[in-house]
Amino acid sequence: MTRKVTKAIFPVAGMGTRFLPATKSVPKEIMTLVDRPLVQYAIDEARAAGIKEFIFVTSRGKSALEDYFDHNLVLEQDLRSKGKDELLEILNATNMESGAIAYIRQHKALGLGHAVWCARRLIGDEPFAVMLPDDVIAADKPCLQQMVEAYEETGGNMVAAMEVPNEKTSSYGILDTGNNVGTVVRAKGMVEKPNPEDAPSNLAVIGRYILGPSVLYNLNQMKAGSGGEIQLTDAIAEDITNGVPVFGYKFDGQRFDCGSKAGFLQATVSFALARDDLRDDLSRYLHDIVTSDRAAQ
Ligand code: UTP
Repeated sequence: MTRKVTKAIFPVAGMGTRFLPATKSVPKEIMTLVDRPLVQYAIDEARAAGIKEFIFVTSRGKSALEDYFDHNLVLEQDLRSKGKDELLEILNATNMESGAIAYIRQHKALGLGHAVWCARRLIGDEPFAVMLPDDVIAADKPCLQQMVEAYEETGGNMVAAMEVPNEKTSSYGILDTGNNVGTVVRAKGMVEKPNPEDAPSNLAVIGRYILGPSVLYNLNQMKAGSGGEIQLTDAIAEDITNGVPVFGYKFDGQRFDCGSKAGFLQATVSFALARDDLRDDLSRYLHDIVTSDRAAQ
């Protein structure tokens, strides 16, 4: 029997340099896809998967993120007095239960592994999820929920995996899989950002993980890895060496890399086109600019 996964870590202490100058004062996770901040998508996905405790690893300059989860009583009162029930409902869906969110500071950006390790005392001795809010996944069944259901059968550690073009392996953690067949594949190894010629496969790890406490133990012993950072990949790979199984889960859904400008723009268009109130106008506009652009060429 695997233990239930009820805690999730959201490492959001990175500097978001690819979005400067915006991220000089706005945390990347607060940037909006249409009208909802990236972090809201991650929270909704976590809730659907049964997560009850939400642990944010933050850093200097992220106070807008903490404020976002507070009740805004003045705004709520104003909407109520004006009878704007629909807006009130949208607002209520973003409120978190008292005590459900914890914030831990990562005092220095020493890498994703280090950020996860900073939350160790709140995790204790149980399995936990890690979610990177800049990976947004559009799916009928939310990605983490798919993974939790699979994890209940497998135990061990589980990472979300997707195939990437060979020339892109140096942007991801890559799984070494003997047999790349089926939705759940057992990993023989895992390497961070290998050059295409050294990559053991093209199965990349993206920002959803279900990990056991042994990974935190490995992080306790860790030294800096690739890029001088303490890598989560290295701590998970050590579990494989120690005989603890690691599974890649090939999720069903479309992942957008909202940590990059191109991915963020694609997600914005895709999420807007999925909305009844925006679809018609936007698709007409997109059609017009694409056809006039073709005509000009
Ligand atoms: P990224 O590699 O995307 O870095 O981190 P970043 O700082 O967010 O963005 P760029 O590259 O400068 O534009 C992946 C995830 O790991 C977190 C980030 O907040 C992001 O969610 N992270 C990274 C930390 O929490 N701490 C770190 O030391 C590094």
